[in-house]
Amino acid sequence: MFYPLISVDELIDGEIKTFDVEGFNFLLIKFENDIHLIENKCGHFGVALADGSLRIDKAIASIVCPEHGISFSLATGEVVNRPYENCTPINIYQYEVRDNMIGFVKD
Ligand code: FES
Repeated sequence: MFYPLISVDELIDGEIKTFDVEGFNFLLIKFENDIHLIENKCGHFGVALADGSLRIDKAIASIVCPEHGISFSLATGEVVNRPYENCTPINIYQYEVRDNMIGFVKD
């Protein structure tokens, strides 16, 4: 199933957009010219990542949680820095571009 979110032209590099679709709360991000669709929930204490910041951490495009500063890879969801224990990777979701629209893809 394809759920259109936003046109490719509307997504600006460095911008974080939040969506709720089919019970999934996720962030659509364009950073360093790559597009990512990630879970809006930190793998540490579940804080929303929508207010996080984007940065290159250890040469990996990452989002940094605003609460305790753990960073997660935008491509894999894995923790990039690990200042705290009990932190799990975040979910990465699948997207496609169809007719210039970026959409969430779910089986
Ligand atoms: S809640 Fe995100 S780093 Fe702790």
